[in-house]
Amino acid sequence: MRAPRLSERYGADVWLKWDAANPTGSYKDRGMTVAVSKAVEEGAEAVVVASTGNTASSAAAYAARAGIRALILQPVGAVASGKVAQTRMYGATVLDVRGSFDEALAAARALAARGTHALVNSVNPYRREGQKTAVFEIVEELGAVPAAIYLPYGGGGNTTAYGQAFAELGGTPSRLIAAEARDRPHTVASAIRIAEPAHAETVAAALAATGGDVVTLEDETILAAWTDLARSEGLFCEPSSAAGLAALDVERPEPGSTVVCVITGHGLKDPAAAAARAPAPVEVDPDPDAIYGFSAGESR
Ligand code: F0G
Repeated sequence: MRAPRLSERYGADVWLKWDAANPTGSYKDRGMTVAVSKAVEEGAEAVVVASTGNTASSAAAYAARAGIRALILQPVGAVASGKVAQTRMYGATVLDVRGSFDEALAAARALAARGTHALVNSVNPYRREGQKTAVFEIVEELGAVPAAIYLPYGGGGNTTAYGQAFAELGGTPSRLIAAEARDRPHTVASAIRIAEPAHAETVAAALAATGGDVVTLEDETILAAWTDLARSEGLFCEPSSAAGLAALDVERPEPGSTVVCVITGHGLKDPAAAAARAPAPVEVDPDPDAIYGFSAGESR
């Protein structure tokens, strides 16, 4: 989707890769359909995943679809409510792990090593095979390789997958700009609340190969970009998904160039974040005179 107001502001052609409209509302479905299909092909009866929420929803959905079990390890109290609701609805076994995402991932890896469950975190190479398709779509739909692609950086699986896609495409790649939270273990952007990115080395390689960079952002900057997207472009994403947008102010697009920001998850995933920061409704009687008083210069 073209972002006309952002384009005007940055003097560049700014596009958004809206990955919030996948079946479970995040980009995770791209890789999860591949990983679960391969797990089934290899005879798995269950998958396991550690997640800040979106991978969990996606694993649970595709496992349900495939008729196998999903075991979800989520850091207790740290996952947005929309994601937890979804994951429970798909019938997954959801465990609140007393620990961080990194500790949950270590447990998932250890369990998978016992051979009972297929691990479908993005350390599973099939996940990244699926996630590459976002780059192929961007290039196909724009009819050209954009100058830069901005995306949130949590564990780094997605940035790694984008790097793989450009390595396969050949030619001049887009600069990959990976946007992370400065306070990784505590950021309000719960999807990318990951202290130790599992893919740090391959992210560094992808950034080097594409002339890209890591941009490190304060929470307030991410939240400002998140609110701004909703108000200026009419698009509601989850807070983490705005990290790439926030990075536009740090790694400014070349004037007149075409750039893409990847919007990784839907705003409805995290209703509490919105409720905490958007104007609250005002209670009124169903009386036109009373209502008229509120309708004049409000809303922004
Ligand atoms: N955006 C969203 C909405 C995410 O859910 C994630 C990661 C990222 C960006 C970062 O991607 O980890 O490949 O660098 N979510 C994972 C999860 C950790 O468990 O759902 P990354």
